[in-house]
Amino acid sequence: MAKSQWMHNIARIMMVTTVILSATVATAAEEKKLSTAEEGKKIAFDRAKGNCLACHMMADGVSPGEIAPPLMAMQARYPDKQKLFDKIWGKPGVELMPESQMLPFGKNKALTDEEISKVVEFLYTL
Ligand code: HEC
Repeated sequence: MAKSQWMHNIARIMMVTTVILSATVATAAEEKKLSTAEEGKKIAFDRAKGNCLACHMMADGVSPGEIAPPLMAMQARYPDKQKLFDKIWGKPGVELMPESQMLPFGKNKALTDEEISKVVEFLYTL
């Protein structure tokens, strides 16, 4: 095989490998994002955790309560993810109404910061 043709083949193999590798990385990142949102959904729906369904209608949750606004179009309504996090956490300045039935999940240590972040990822899919 002529040397130039050999080099050409190597270059092609490297190019194909790069394409396959980057596709794999993209898929892995996508899966990770999905699973974080799914974990968040579990926490939100779990009666011993978020129990959000007791008061909020959300996604495909069964027999939701009706005392709170339905959680939908969250990304459009909260373009700042941190604001949504702070609201669920119960940070000063972004607290819910003073007499709200909703507990400040972070402040009361009902959920960890990590759990709230996962719930926020899930809410962003709504
Ligand atoms: C005990 C009832 C109750 C539970 C449980 C509850 N909420 Fe709420 N939530 C409310 C009420 C009532 C409001 C209405 C607004 C207010 O009180 O300020 C509200 C408001 C909100 C808001 C702001 C309003 C909006 O639509 O943007 C968000 C976001 C929210 N809740 C998310 C959650 C999430 C996430 C969970 C679960 C981790 C949860 N809530 C659990 C009662 C509840």
